[in-house]
Order: sequence, then structure tokens, then C-alpha cells
Amino acid sequence: MSDSIDRVFEISVDGRQVAVTDEAMTLLDVLREAGVTSVKDGCAPQGQCGCCTVLVDGAPRVSCVTPVRRMRGRSIVTVDGLDAGRAEAWASAFCESGASQCGFCTPGIICRLEGLVIKGGDLTDDAQVGRALQAHLCRCTGWTTIREAAVSVASGATVAVRDFAAAGERATLEGRADQSVGPDVALGRGGFADDIAPADALVAVPAGEGWAVAATLFEARSAAGKIQGRRTTLEPTPPIALPEGDWAVTLQTGWVDPAYLEPDSVWCEPGGEPVGPLLNGGAFGAKSHSRLGEVARRIADERGRSVRVVTDREWVVRNGAKRPPVAIGLRVDGSGEVRVAATHGIADILRAVGPAIDVVEVDAAGPPTSAAIRGAGWVELHLALAGLRGHVGSIRAPDGGIATAKIIDGAIRITVDAGQALDDVVLRSYAIGAAHMALGWIRSESIAVDEQGTVHDLTIRSFGVLRAIDTPQIKVEIVESDRPPVNGSDAVFAAVAAAVWLEAGCPPVIPTR
Ligand code: FES
Ligand code: FES
Repeated sequence: MSDSIDRVFEISVDGRQVAVTDEAMTLLDVLREAGVTSVKDGCAPQGQCGCCTVLVDGAPRVSCVTPVRRMRGRSIVTVDGLDAGRAEAWASAFCESGASQCGFCTPGIICRLEGLVIKGGDLTDDAQVGRALQAHLCRCTGWTTIREAAVSVASGATVAVRDFAAAGERATLEGRADQSVGPDVALGRGGFADDIAPADALVAVPAGEGWAVAATLFEARSAAGKIQGRRTTLEPTPPIALPEGDWAVTLQTGWVDPAYLEPDSVWCEPGGEPVGPLLNGGAFGAKSHSRLGEVARRIADERGRSVRVVTDREWVVRNGAKRPPVAIGLRVDGSGEVRVAATHGIADILRAVGPAIDVVEVDAAGPPTSAAIRGAGWVELHLALAGLRGHVGSIRAPDGGIATAKIIDGAIRITVDAGQALDDVVLRSYAIGAAHMALGWIRSESIAVDEQGTVHDLTIRSFGVLRAIDTPQIKVEIVESDRPPVNGSDAVFAAVAAAVWLEAGCPPVIPTR
């Protein structure tokens, strides 16, 4: 980037001049290549997640669909370029309310809300904040805590002393992968693999069945061809037929993408150990069996150079692990049959919850599935069993978390016993995020996959993740406990899903949209 021979023009980023080497680049391409790693790529070039939002002349703008040639003479500000006191206020507020978990979406959201302030908006006005957040997706937090952070910034609230080691321990339990907690995470400095790779690493991107390798991401993607996510008119349908039987309760589920916002990314040096993709969260279990590390190691060894492997939204939808679809039939005595997409380990999980229920694994043409996805299998069975009983009660997750959920006047009320809380802010944040995910799973989340197994919904907005304005009030009560700390959010996910499904009258197919 610094070679003046290649330089086409310069743009102003956070008060410094940054060289643009190719007019065909987007603003996001230029920012990332200039080392501005706080600006994230969650879905480029779809322009749908908001993770790449920056301020252009004070107005929020999605940089992945902004041609850089239009940025001549404009002033671009990222979270890194905010006034130091302002950045600290945002980071502290997000940390204080638990509004940032993996942190991938957060810098873009901060830019959006700062833009609201710049144009004279009111951070304490819930409707204004809700409208501003419409351009964003957050998979982790469930929005409530982000709204609270906005109010906190407006009121200039100060930050209480926290034990961030304990907070990180709680976040790691909830995310089932190493997770740090602190103000830096909100500013995009949590340490994602693509952000911490050596600056001179080669870049490998998906290209057909293989990988295109180049010196920069822009060059690699140009060589691979344009990535064009799309949404289909094909209706999502459950891929597994119900077994024959005289069932009192039935439940069929479809294909669901976990919809984590950081596309899988790994880097590796020759002869070294791959780094990522499990940094800053576990993507709800979806990245736990990723094979990208092998790809990164192989290319690094072949080229004798460090390489970072960077995927994109469309690749993640096609290749990322999904929740195994099921078809369940239960008789009044609690016996019955579960048919589930053949998935390593899923049968054992189901048999542990319903020893009297037959489990049959079937081939379901479609994307890969994983039993490591949050609550895979056992939550579906708990739903059907709750439908049989006609009430939810408290749900105990296989590793010990206990939760209850009620829906009162449209609001979701949760209790969670996760052993010693370690950090109430983090536990509450994960509980709210799990409730938001459960609500979306029952009501709206699914992707269309045809009978041949080809995925057709390839944009992040097509997954049905609930937006901030569609998310009801979620209240969490943490049960005091002396038990050793355990994951609590999976039990919350199960309890809320069951409560929402029962309230809807136990419809035989989810999502209910
Ligand atoms: S990366 Fe730009 S909107 Fe998602
Ligand atoms: S904190 Fe928003 S996507 Fe993870």
C-alpha cells in the first residue's frame, strides 16, 4: 500500500492519508488492507450485517458496498479515530452492560450510534436507537444490552470495578471457547484470526472447490471471482419426513444456520500451528470441527510463507455446520421416535434425554451438521416432551445449567442457575442472547435447501435473525448458587424455545413463520 508507484489516490482515514491502489476497491477493502482491523467484514459484498459501518463526513455508511473512488475528499472515521474520551465512553458502556460478546458487530454499531448523536439524535430514545440498529445484526447479545449501553453513554455513567478474569471465565463457559472480556473487545480489538495475522501473510480465499491465493484479500477475491450472495423464493421446508405413528405430539425442524457474524478465518506460518477460527467465541459450536486450519497449514507449507485463509458469507452458509434437522413423534405415554439428520454424536445426546424413545439417523441431503451446535437434539426433544406435558417447567441442560422461562404480556422472563455466576453482567448478557436466539429459532430462522441438498438462501438477512425492533423485553433473574460454575445459556435457550413453542400452540413445524 505504501508504494507510491502503485498509488492511484489517497483518502483520509482517522486523520491520516491512506493510499488507494485500485479504483475498483471498496472502502472496506482499502481500510482492511491499510490495517484498520476494527472495521469488520461479516458479509461483503452483501451490505447486510452492518459490521463494516464507518462514519463518512459524520454519517454512518456501510463500507463494503461503498466504492472507494467516491471517497475522494471525504473524511472517514472508524472507531479508532473517535475522540479518545468518546471511544472510552462507548467501550466502557458496552462492557458495563454486557453489550459486546464476541465483539465482531460492535465497532460498526458504535459508529452507527455515534452517527445518530452527530445528527442530533437522542441515545435515550428507544425508538431512535431501535431504528438506527435496523442496519445491523448481532448474533450474540439479543439487543437489550446494546440499548442499555446507548443510554449509559448518553447519561455519562461511570464504570464499576470488575474482575475481568472472572468475567472471561464466565464468557468462556457460555461460549464454549476462549473468550476475553473488557473494553477493548467492544472496540474490535478482541483478536480475531484475520485481524492478528502477520501483515505480510499471503491470503487464500475459496475459489470453486479450491483456494485462490494472492498477496492481498482484494487480489485473491478478484482472482476467485465475485461473491454474490442471494436470497431465493424457495420456501424452507423440513427435510425429514415424520415417522408413521399414532402421535400425540409431532415436531419437524428445518435447516438453520447458526448465523455467527465472523466468517471462519485461520492463519498459519510454515511448519506452525494454525491460529483460529475459535478466537473470541465459539460460534455456538459451529466452528468446533472446522477444517480450515488444515487448509491454512497446507498452503503455508507449500508456499513457505505465512498465509491467512479468509472465507465469506456465502462460503459459510454453504459449508458451515448447521443444526441437525429432526422429525419427532411422541405418544401419550412418552414413547416415540426421533428421526435426525445423520450426525456424529447426535444419537447419544438424544438417547440420554429420552431413553424410551427410538432414535433413527437418516441421510438428509444438505449442508454439514454438527452435534456441537448449541443444544442440538436435546432441546428439540425437550420441546416435544414439554408439548406432551402441556407445560415447560425448569429445564436442566446435560452439563448442569438450569433455566425456566415464561412469556408474560409478550415479555420473556427467565431464571437461570449456572452455579456460581462469576460475573452477573456476562451471565445476564449470554442469557439474553440465548433467549433472542431461541425466539428467532422458533419463529423465523431457517434457510432454504432443495431436495438435492443445495443451499439457496445465501445472504445473512435471509436467515431470519430477529432485528432489534422485533425483539421483546427480556428479563433475567440469576439464581444464587454455590455449585461450581456451569454453562447457563444453553438451558436458557431450551427453556425459552419451549415456552415460545408452547405459547404458539405447539405447531408441528418450526419455524412457525
Ligand atoms: S460486511 Fe458490510 S454490511 Fe456486512
Ligand atoms: S457481539 Fe454482536 S455478533 Fe457477537
